[in-house]
Amino acid sequence: MINLKNIHKSFKNQVVLNGCNLSAQLGDLVHISGPNGSGKSTLLFIIAGLLEADEGSMHFDNPVNIGALIENPEFADYSTIKDNLSYLLKLKNQVDETYAVELCRNFNLDYYDKKVIKNFSVGMKQKVGIIQAIMEDQNLVLLDEPTRGLDDESKEVFVNLINEMTSKTKATVIITSHDEIVGLNYTSSYRLDAGQIIELQS
Ligand SMILES: Nc1ncnc2c1ncn2[C@@H]1O[C@H](COP(=O)(O)OP(=O)(O)OP(=O)(O)O)[C@@H](O)[C@H]1O
Ligand SMILES: [Mg+2]
Repeated sequence: MINLKNIHKSFKNQVVLNGCNLSAQLGDLVHISGPNGSGKSTLLFIIAGLLEADEGSMHFDNPVNIGALIENPEFADYSTIKDNLSYLLKLKNQVDETYAVELCRNFNLDYYDKKVIKNFSVGMKQKVGIIQAIMEDQNLVLLDEPTRGLDDESKEVFVNLINEMTSKTKATVIITSHDEIVGLNYTSSYRLDAGQIIELQS
């Protein structure tokens, strides 16, 4: 599904990624841990195509449909959940909102809420960020610190959703976090260390 070879990335003269290798298949649930500033978000931005690597290669099996929540979710702040999500669905020529509505309900949000996103709480925004990354059945899902700001009930909803998605081999999911997210059935765990992805023994 995805194969990264020897990815390098520096900002000015700071080397952040120094030869990262990673490969994952459909159904894999990959965890990449690492302390603040280790390059987790940088790596996901590169995989998502939002940042260019200085060196290395990246190969995807076709066709790839990437869903991503990296750092803070970004929305049209003065619009509602429905306006934001239906806009994103239309970009992918998808008209069926059923799954987005269902995901909102699972996360205790109302798809038809009249409130604009600007007035949402941090956790509410984060949940809409997770929903947009998975609502189109994207087959490569990149989630950066996804449970940040989520209450315990929402964390459980998240964990069950991701475990189910990957067990049905519908997607490859890559999650980065500096702490543990309890309950996720990772198929592999790595640590970003000195700019390299080191596999951890399970
Ligand atoms: N656009 C940029 N310009 C300059 N330096 C950057 C830029 N983006 C990231 N960096 C630097 O790259 C390093 C890695 O940053 P990154 O955001 O990838 O870390 P992280 O592992 O996601 O950290 P955190 O756990 O705090 O989110 C940091 O030292 C950061 O300052
Ligand atoms: Mg980060």
